[in-house]
Amino acid sequence: MKKTIIVTLSLVALIITSLAFTISEPPGYKNLKILPNDISKEKLDSIMHNYTNSLNVKCTFCHVRNKEDRKWDFASDSIADKQITRKMMLMAMDINKKYFIEDEEGKHLAQAVQPVSCYTCHRGAEIPLTTPPPPPPRIEGQLQQTITEDKK
Ligand code: HEC
Ligand code: HEC
Repeated sequence: MKKTIIVTLSLVALIITSLAFTISEPPGYKNLKILPNDISKEKLDSIMHNYTNSLNVKCTFCHVRNKEDRKWDFASDSIADKQITRKMMLMAMDINKKYFIEDEEGKHLAQAVQPVSCYTCHRGAEIPLTTPPPPPPRIEGQLQQTITEDKK
C-alpha cells in the first residue's frame, strides 16, 4: 500500500515538472526556413492570421492535419501553397528592402506593416487580379458633362 502511494506521488511530481517545462519553453517550431527560430508565439500567430486574412483562406490552405489523430501538423510542407508562400515572403521582403526599407531592420518582417505586404497584391484573393475590372457602363449624358466640366 505504502509503495503504491510513493509511486503515485512520484508520478504526480513527474507530471508537474514536465508540465512546468512545457509551459516555460519557447514555442519550439520545427520547420521555419524564413522566419527566425526564436520567434514568439504571438508574433507567429499574427503573421499567420495576416496570411489567412490577406488571401481570405483558412489555415488548411497551407497546413495539414494528421490522418490518424486529426491533430495539426503545422511543420509539414506537404501542401504546395505553403512552399509557394515562402517564395512570396522572400519576394515581399526583397521588394521592401530594395525599394522601400533602407536599413537592415526589415530583415525578417514578411508581414502587414510593410508597404508591400501580402494584402497589397492579394486583396483577399488566392490569386491576385492582373487586369483591372471593365469600366462601369456609361450613363447617358455623363460624357458630355465631363467634357463641359473640363472646359471650365
Ligand atoms: C498562405 C499560407 C499559410 C497560411 C494560410 C497559414 N500558414 Fe502557417 N505557415 C506558413 C509558412 C510558409 C510557414 C513556414 C514559415 C517559414 O518557413 O519560416 C508556416 C509556419 C507555421 C507554423 C510553424 C510550424 C513549425 O513548427 O515550423 C505554425 C504553428 C503555423 N504556421 C500556424 C498557422 C495557423 C494557426 C494558421 C491559420 C490561422 C496558418 N499557419 C496559416 C504558411 C501559411
Ligand atoms: C507583388 C505582389 C505579391 C505579393 C506582395 C504577394 N503575392 Fe502571392 N501571388 C502574387 C501573384 C501575381 C500570384 C499568382 C501567380 C501565378 O498565377 O502564377 C500569387 C500567388 C500566390 C499563391 C499561390 C495561390 C494559388 O492558388 O496558386 C500563394 C499561396 C500566395 N501568393 C501567397 C502569398 C503570401 C502569403 C504573401 C505575403 C507573404 C504574398 N503571396 C505576397 C503576387 C503577390
